[in-house]
Amino acid sequence: MKYIEAGNYEEMSRIAADMIAEQISGKPDCVLGLATGSTPVGTYKELIRRYEAGKLDFSKVRSVNLDEYIGLDGTNDQSYRYFMDHNLFDHVNIDKKNTNVPNGKAADPVKEGARYDELVASLGGTDIQILGIGHDGHIGFNEPDDVFYAATHEVELDDMTIDANARFFESRDKVPTKAITMGMWAIMQAKKIILIASGPDKKEIVDKFMHGPVTPRVPASILQCHRDVTVIYSPNK
Ligand code: GLP
Repeated sequence: MKYIEAGNYEEMSRIAADMIAEQISGKPDCVLGLATGSTPVGTYKELIRRYEAGKLDFSKVRSVNLDEYIGLDGTNDQSYRYFMDHNLFDHVNIDKKNTNVPNGKAADPVKEGARYDELVASLGGTDIQILGIGHDGHIGFNEPDDVFYAATHEVELDDMTIDANARFFESRDKVPTKAITMGMWAIMQAKKIILIASGPDKKEIVDKFMHGPVTPRVPASILQCHRDVTVIYSPNK
């Protein structure tokens, strides 16, 4: 794994945006694996800035997002579809038809998971996957468990994750308790992975997933088995 320590959040975001921009310029119809959470917001702002400056063209770009809350549809302002529209897609010339987020309202999450994995496969996989990380080491919504799950699947969110995400909701009891997330197959098939994290509160988990044992108790540790991962960490939020 390659490790880059950024001076601050803006620098972390710039470095990640540089890597994504290079991917889009080199392959205009590339497939981006995208993430939500507060960490990638700066990266998306930086990509929007470059698009507005005429330096980036998203017209042929395809995208797949990692996860979605179960029970929320795209019009709900807490859904990850809404997040992506507002933080990136509505501000660049990507064709929304080419953007994909798991369907949190699917009647059968198992079928939805299979559909999503088939979709990722039919796109030829992702060229570059951007990831954040939860304090418990989750990527997407792959929570600590006894096993790594390969398929896109439904998960019960950990109390720690619900606590962490409560800041985006009116109150803690409004946070959905379930989500649908890409599993390790769809994440690990990416040709290149960038994991971004910032703030002193993420330092311990970054050290742990990079240098500790590979275990489903620290889901991000599986990234040690991927051949092209860049971790960009800023000690400052
Ligand atoms: C959520 C998302 C993750 C994200 C994590 C960290 O749980 N499903 O993909 O990495 O939050 O969020 P933040 O970047 O706000 O710390």
